[in-house]
Amino acid sequence: MTENPSNRPVPIRAVKGTRDLLPRDAALWQKIEDEARRVFAAYHFGEIRTPILEQTALFARSVGEDTDIVSKEMYTFEDRDQERLTLRPEATASVVRAYIEHSLYNEGGVHKLYYVGPMFRRDRPQKGRYRQFYQIGAEALGSEHPAVDVELLEMLVLFLERVGIRDSKLLLNSVGDKNCRPAYIEALREALGSVKDQMCGDCQRRADTNPLRVLDCKVPADQPIIEKLPRMIDHLCAECRPHFDHVLAGLGARGIAYEITPRLVRGLDYYTRTTFEITSGVLGAQNSLLGGGRYDGLSEMLGGPAAPGIGFAIGEDRLALAVEAAGVLKPERPLQVYVAWLGETAREPAARLARDLRARGLSVEAGYEPAKLKKSLGAASKLGARFAVIIGEGELAAGLYQVKDLDSGGQEGVAPDDVADYLASRLH
Ligand code: HAM
Repeated sequence: MTENPSNRPVPIRAVKGTRDLLPRDAALWQKIEDEARRVFAAYHFGEIRTPILEQTALFARSVGEDTDIVSKEMYTFEDRDQERLTLRPEATASVVRAYIEHSLYNEGGVHKLYYVGPMFRRDRPQKGRYRQFYQIGAEALGSEHPAVDVELLEMLVLFLERVGIRDSKLLLNSVGDKNCRPAYIEALREALGSVKDQMCGDCQRRADTNPLRVLDCKVPADQPIIEKLPRMIDHLCAECRPHFDHVLAGLGARGIAYEITPRLVRGLDYYTRTTFEITSGVLGAQNSLLGGGRYDGLSEMLGGPAAPGIGFAIGEDRLALAVEAAGVLKPERPLQVYVAWLGETAREPAARLARDLRARGLSVEAGYEPAKLKKSLGAASKLGARFAVIIGEGELAAGLYQVKDLDSGGQEGVAPDDVADYLASRLH
């Protein structure tokens, strides 16, 4: 253990880019996740929980060797038996792996799965960007019909509405498929040939290895050059163009606003056709709240049967910031009732009452050590309790507990057997 001069061990801190969520933060996260589960269930998505550790090859094959995620950001290590393992940087690859591994395709129809959990990317930490971050994601596998795209986006918009996000923008693009993208990439490569020397080092390299990635470049000086490059939506083939038009028409029919963003290629290689992001103004530099799209060839890339799919992942850390700023969804008050008991004779009656209230689902605290009334009520309001129940010798003798509304200050005597009903009716 490292020691400092005073001989006290130096405290060990959380790893850079990771953080603790304390109950005051986690309460809002729980509400967000509850809402996600409710909305996703309404669209008949079922939860899938995949391992956090996967074989490195899974991400290399799906997300792509030349992406930032795989080439620079993965936490990869060799296990004791020389197997190369990676802490998942995203979950789409894992979901598709599981879909293949459990032959879910045999059940037919569209498989709709969602997940909530931590992902790991060794990026430069800043507000809204962490090395361990959380995603709420969903994947619909088994159909390439644009109606699936529209329904998925509709579900997302409903969910964002439910958690109070109003200022978000849906950016939409089509990145084509295996038929039209190669020709587009050639056109892009050719156009880059004459301008790449004026671009950043990454772009120069990618102009040769993976020209689509050039469109992701954030270097300001490169932007005017990128603006003039050919656009995928002008090169869509006879299947991809109507697919995209169908998605646009479906969104229009459901009153979902979008902005076509021809440069939106996303940072993962598995995408085909529809790609999208939703940004939020309140997030500052890291303004991408969520991203997603179609990945019609991914199952085959991972050794499975043809299984077209589409999905999204919301950055929960960023969503929580946006939800907090919107102020519509608020965490529950953590404590509903404080039982203030005065003197040892009241200890057990107070403990019985606390147990009954807790069994009814109320959140209750009843001090562990004897305390005077003033101190107990001070503790109750410090903890944010909504009601206090006062039980002293007088209350025991009279057979009436005093129930105090800590918001209004009003107080009423209630028979011990009626306290649970009295509080439940006011709190639910
Ligand atoms: P992604 O765009 O890499 O897509 O990540 C989705 C979201 O995760 C981002 O929009 C952002 O909100 C959040 N995120 C990413 N990196 C970080 C980070 N370092 N710190 C905090 N939040 C972060 C995917 O992961 C795809 N799997 C989405 C998908 C699902 N596509 C199809 N299905």
